[in-house]
Amino acid sequence: MICSPIPENIDRAAHIIRAGGLVAFPTETVYGLGANACDDQAVKRIFALKGRPHFNPLIVHTFSFDQIKYIADIENNSGIRTKLDRLRSFWPGPLTVVLPKHKNIANSATAGLDSVAIRIPAHEVALALLKACACPLAAPSANKSSYISPTSAKHVAEEFPNEIEMILDGGSCKIGIESTVISLLDDPVQLLRPGAITLEQLREVLGEVEIKSDAHDMLRSPGMLKQHYSPRTRLIIRGTLNTNDYPARVGLIAFSAGNIDFAYRAIKVISQYGKLEDVAANLYAALRELDTLDLDLIVIETCEQSGLGLAIMDRIKRAASRE
Ligand code: TXA
Ligand code: MG
Repeated sequence: MICSPIPENIDRAAHIIRAGGLVAFPTETVYGLGANACDDQAVKRIFALKGRPHFNPLIVHTFSFDQIKYIADIENNSGIRTKLDRLRSFWPGPLTVVLPKHKNIANSATAGLDSVAIRIPAHEVALALLKACACPLAAPSANKSSYISPTSAKHVAEEFPNEIEMILDGGSCKIGIESTVISLLDDPVQLLRPGAITLEQLREVLGEVEIKSDAHDMLRSPGMLKQHYSPRTRLIIRGTLNTNDYPARVGLIAFSAGNIDFAYRAIKVISQYGKLEDVAANLYAALRELDTLDLDLIVIETCEQSGLGLAIMDRIKRAASRE
């Protein structure tokens, strides 16, 4: 079920995809659950397996910038092509762009929208698979809808023990949180989901980039959040509940060593010195681990909402939201 990414297994995986099956594969952000993006039936199986709402579109993955024109209808749109060229240096990497959809792509992959989200992952196993398939892969994160995204092959197997034809093991994901998503359909460009390619980096090459309403509301009022990426155990941000009111079994996810204010049952220190790259890389595995310990509450620390911190806090606030 979990397979090492040796060339024979990459070939087998490509064969499965071309025959309409599903393969989970590693990327630098999180593991994806992939199907041929041009095969409507195969893509529909992803929605069914994840329990994903039919209106939530998937990301289409490819191996090179030159392939984008077969996925997005940009031939006659010089404005969009200019923006794409400015973003070129971010690929392969954790950036997803929303563009006008090409008719090659299955309608189910884009949830019936006339736009398509595209990304070129920076992971050698993902790139090898994409090349061997010779078709783009529609792939959401390989988790049940609204649970925590998987950052290891084991996480995928825990959620889908028998349902996926193959899980390619590429070790732990280096970045650990999902890609930045921007829409090039609007002017100025809109940030739909913060990620490891930061707002600051995007503004440097594109000029103005607007934070789209959902992300914006998230910054101004966390109460408006939709729940996502959540553990089953109740999760709160440290400081939002007095330690006197804590239940008996509480776990802590700390961003640096030290500063312990309660007799926690379990403590996961996910970065020794508060380095944001470490926090992102270890965040989901820590949430999953504490979620197995039968705790009454998980408490998590916070960081500044700039650079990579914007994406980290986006995920934490969504995970802690019960709306
Ligand atoms: O890092 C990642 O992006 C991972 C790896 C596997 O590549 N994938 C991932 O996929 O996080 P998923 O399905 O969990 O998130 C896709 C996001 C959703 O927020 C979805 O609404 C948005 O991309 N999206 C996809 N197509 C879109 C479109 N046409 N317009 C606007 N948003 C879109
Ligand atoms: Mg997801």
